[in-house]
Amino acid sequence: MWTDGPLCYGGDYNPEQWPAQVWSEDVALMRQAGVNLVTVGVFAWSRLEPAPGRYTFDWLDQVLDLLHGGGVRVALATPTASPPPWFSLAHPGALPVTADGIRLHHGSRDTYCAATPAYRDAALRITTALADRYAHHPALAGWHVHNEYGTTCHCEHTARAFRRWLTTRHGDLAALNDAWVTSFWSQHYSDWAQISTPRATQYLPNPGHLLDFRRFWSDTLLAAYTEQRDLLRAANPALTITTNYVLGDWVPVDHARWATEVDLVAVDHYPSAVDGGAEEQTALAADLARGWARHAAHRRPGSPPAGGAAAWLLMESAPNQIHTAGRMHTKEPGRMLRHSLAHVARGSHGAMFFQWRAPVGGAERFHSALVPHAGPDSRVFRETVALGAALRQLSEVRGSVEAAVALVVDAASGWALRHPGLPSALPDYHDELAAAHRALWRSGYACDTLTPGDPVDGYRLLVLPALYLIDDDAAEWLRGYVDGGGHLLVTYLSGVADEHARVRLGGYPGALRELLGAYAEEFHPLDAADQVRLDDGGTGRIWAETLRLTGADTVVSYTGGVLDAMPAVTRHRVGAGTAWYVSTRLDDTSYRRLLDTAARAAGVTTVCPDAPEGVEAVRRRDGAASWLFLLNHTDHEQRVPASGVDLLTATPIERAVTLAPGGVAVLREHKG
Ligand code: GAL
Repeated sequence: MWTDGPLCYGGDYNPEQWPAQVWSEDVALMRQAGVNLVTVGVFAWSRLEPAPGRYTFDWLDQVLDLLHGGGVRVALATPTASPPPWFSLAHPGALPVTADGIRLHHGSRDTYCAATPAYRDAALRITTALADRYAHHPALAGWHVHNEYGTTCHCEHTARAFRRWLTTRHGDLAALNDAWVTSFWSQHYSDWAQISTPRATQYLPNPGHLLDFRRFWSDTLLAAYTEQRDLLRAANPALTITTNYVLGDWVPVDHARWATEVDLVAVDHYPSAVDGGAEEQTALAADLARGWARHAAHRRPGSPPAGGAAAWLLMESAPNQIHTAGRMHTKEPGRMLRHSLAHVARGSHGAMFFQWRAPVGGAERFHSALVPHAGPDSRVFRETVALGAALRQLSEVRGSVEAAVALVVDAASGWALRHPGLPSALPDYHDELAAAHRALWRSGYACDTLTPGDPVDGYRLLVLPALYLIDDDAAEWLRGYVDGGGHLLVTYLSGVADEHARVRLGGYPGALRELLGAYAEEFHPLDAADQVRLDDGGTGRIWAETLRLTGADTVVSYTGGVLDAMPAVTRHRVGAGTAWYVSTRLDDTSYRRLLDTAARAAGVTTVCPDAPEGVEAVRRRDGAASWLFLLNHTDHEQRVPASGVDLLTATPIERAVTLAPGGVAVLREHKG
């Protein structure tokens, strides 16, 4: 496994974009920076197979030998995310079709349909050729399959595959009609052949249809991945095989479900916020990645037990610019290191980047790189060298993050919350997750992420932000958790619908009504600019509800307006545990206060209670050994009470560590 050795450091290396003389300089600079792993050839299909069945591997032979000679290991990519022009010309039927029925043209990347046999066959042919030639090359650490499975399609091949998938999922048309509630608007299907992908239609589409299509497509992309993986595995079972995930909907798959199929969860992360939001987004991304890795570990036979460390890797991040709408923001000095260590603190076995060297042309010519356009005599390359040194100093760090709080996350709920026809288009699933995570992060709580059904031993507080789809098993899982003494905090839009996106009756959230001792009789979605006032001085936005209590106590009430004096936040003591319900999107300060109250009531403490505001503290533990990461995200010096040895400076720390503005420390803490 890549994760058995030193922390991984490197990124996407595209030697095909450069003349051969640059390659030797690349390897020399990689050595200088301490780079030890690079992804090679990720978009090199047209250079590897310039015509059907004609392979040109000579350049790749040279590159791999050079890298091997320089001690840099290779994650060899299969280049299938970017078929060459000859492929698209020969197989126009493999070009993807949009929901509007428009067939896209060659000219970018990712322009193929993953359900089309011609594409799948061509992808397997180039993968086979690479495996035959390189599976035992000494430079190889493993395979980086494809790149960010991030496409979708509505062509006839897809429609046929979708129908096949539906027959397996539903068995017969009666079950499908029931699941999709096709009695509404005369949509009853009497023959499988009548079903297509959810293409653009006159008015609101069917939610069950949309949801099943997303599930199907996630499975289709997964099948495209696993067939390559199986072929590569057969060529050399010793190599690590993975593909890179991305958050949000860029890669439209259920990452948790995919986690059992990769040897290593590998995640790309590009924050979109430029202020402190970038650090908050980084923390959430890393906590999600760790959750997927743990998820995989729990389910894979012979893997570490719950609570054990599950390896994952930050596979891509930006060395410099943060991309915001319409412009790029140059990262401040030290921020690349802080972002990288925030990932390592949360379990990433290293820090990898897109990309090694900035190209002279192409669509992403201004994307940042470890070797920027200015060349190695640059701030970015000096920080690249410094980061390599820092990662070497952290080689002893291991173990997992200790967290007693977890967010429960479900990809399908996110998909369903994008459906048209909801009471409001404002709630955004990722935003709901981020708000809950941000509140915990700002208070300094360590936070894991789980999917419904995961083991909950050791967690004192589970937070369910907008978990819209809850099936009976998940409802039972939550009931068991609270009965057993767990604390649960549920927000609006959770448990409203079942796994087919059918509304559960009897008051919202139908799946959790009894557990919460409260239910909503009516929703009151708010305009983007509107707020509701709360009697503790806070405010709510986006959403409000008319709540009726059936056993819960009121913690916070609405004040003013139609909901005046009605409950907004409730608490229900059930069995040995407690279930909280929050019926509006609290402002950040109130959300933080509420989660702090719930966490303390659950007996949870922050990672480093004396850390000042703006200093992020994350602890990794392995048995009796522990490492405390302290990241100063403020622009002034900070002192944090702590003791141990700062691995980055090899300095013993007796009582407190002083962090420079934007500075970091990683303490090996004293045992006991
Ligand atoms: C990633 C992708 C890379 C590069 C990067 C920067 O999503 O995998 O190939 O495009 O974004 O935009």
